[in-house]
Amino acid sequence: MKKELIELRVNGRRREVAIPPNKLLLDVLREDLDLTGSKRGCDDSSCGACTVQVNGVPVLACTVLAASVSGDEHEVLTIEGITQHGALDAIQKAYGDWGGAQCGYCTPGFLMTVKALLAANPEPTEEEVRRALSSNLCRCTGYTQMYEAVKAAIEAEQKGMAAAK
Ligand code: FES
Ligand code: FES
Repeated sequence: MKKELIELRVNGRRREVAIPPNKLLLDVLREDLDLTGSKRGCDDSSCGACTVQVNGVPVLACTVLAASVSGDEHEVLTIEGITQHGALDAIQKAYGDWGGAQCGYCTPGFLMTVKALLAANPEPTEEEVRRALSSNLCRCTGYTQMYEAVKAAIEAEQKGMAAAK
């Protein structure tokens, strides 16, 4: 299939790629941009391992054509984009502290889902956190540890804000 040059904004950078028009965002990220944090777990929209954010909204990169999110009006954020200057993000740290990951295959997708939730709603209820977590699948970590990690990240954030006042 003929390739077309498209421009994507990914993790704050403009990236040009020449791809067939039917290439999925997940494959472009992994194969063309070497951003392999987002994973393919199912291919039928059920696992969430491929979750990235587009304009702050979690999307399944295995269901999105890369060309449909090209141009400056779309900002794609992947797990590689949440680590700033090599420092762990609060939720990444909490996942480590609370055993929120075992094999880690699902973890990037979970983190992108949770970060979108907290950006939209910094003080979610337990039910809202559990509902967000339920949109992704994990086969080896207990969801309770993930819930505790999210709760710890929220508390750490609140303490940080109180200390800054
Ligand atoms: S690989 Fe995208 S939802 Fe499973
Ligand atoms: S930590 Fe292994 S699949 Fe979730």
